[in-house]
Amino acid sequence: AHAGAEVFLVEEADARGAIAPRRSDTHKGTYGHVLVVAGSLGKSGAAALSALSALRAGAGLVTVATRAQVVESVLGHAPELMGWPLEDRGPLGRADLESLLAAAAQKDALVVGPGIPRGEETTALLGELLERVDVPVVLDADALNAVSTDLGVLRRAKGPVVLTPHPGEMSRLSGLPTKELQKDRVKVARDFARTHGVTLVLKGARTLIAHADGTVYVNPTGNPGMATGGTGDVLSGVLGALLAQGLKLPEAAWTAVYAHGLAGDLAAGRRGRLGLIASDVVKGLCSVWTRWE
Ligand code: APR
Ligand code: MG
Repeated sequence: AHAGAEVFLVEEADARGAIAPRRSDTHKGTYGHVLVVAGSLGKSGAAALSALSALRAGAGLVTVATRAQVVESVLGHAPELMGWPLEDRGPLGRADLESLLAAAAQKDALVVGPGIPRGEETTALLGELLERVDVPVVLDADALNAVSTDLGVLRRAKGPVVLTPHPGEMSRLSGLPTKELQKDRVKVARDFARTHGVTLVLKGARTLIAHADGTVYVNPTGNPGMATGGTGDVLSGVLGALLAQGLKLPEAAWTAVYAHGLAGDLAAGRRGRLGLIASDVVKGLCSVWTRWE
């Protein structure tokens, strides 16, 4: 295989080894501040799951930027969270840019997308945000649907960008029918990451992590119990937290994916696959860290 065309299987020792043990002479500033741009009326839970997961994956601080009308319900899930209320209006758009740029100042990573309101204006907003923010940005859920109508914004991004589509979102990003792209996941993921200069996490059984250099990593953890609403939001938070702690790409991405899947496997052992819900995966993260520390 020529350079950059390899496919690697992620092993537990790799993921475990990527996370440095905490040194005693550190403080919350050492572990980074994540800004989660997420949630809307009726989808405050997506924001909460992502933000809580960032806390449970070791971020020093986590702030949630969301519409003022839902900010308190998001924060109600954990007193450790901080909120950045965005003026109440419809979908995220250019009118939110200034407030979001202020929110992004002094942050170490951004997670954008879980449960955000859908809207055409969101594409332009994300383009501006990506051009101006120099820390790593994770794009998930409807943030992916927003960029899919103008993929050029990815190349103009100032900092590293990670996309975490499920196959349906990947279909919108790539323009390929879901059934077709699922037949050649490695090629589709690799081509996209290369073309757009991003790290792409193509979710589902055996999640793939494709880096802009053409390298692809295959994740062996996770189980069909995780096919339940909100588990993707958990992954976005874990990834944001690892990036805020200074892990680089693509390592941050395959480590987050491995840990998230293992958290789901350990949680399924207690709850059963049928009963598993996303909150159990958040708790499962702590079982991963106790196993690895
Ligand atoms: N085996 C292994 N892992 C799986 C399996 C499986 N059979 N099924 C699902 N998973 C994992 C995926 O790899 C991924 O990490 O569970 C997670 C599911 O993520 P999503 O598909 O994003 O699902 P969800 O969290 O419900 O998404 C929430 O995103 O797409 C939007 O509109 C959707 O509001 C919803 C939001
Ligand atoms: Mg999702």
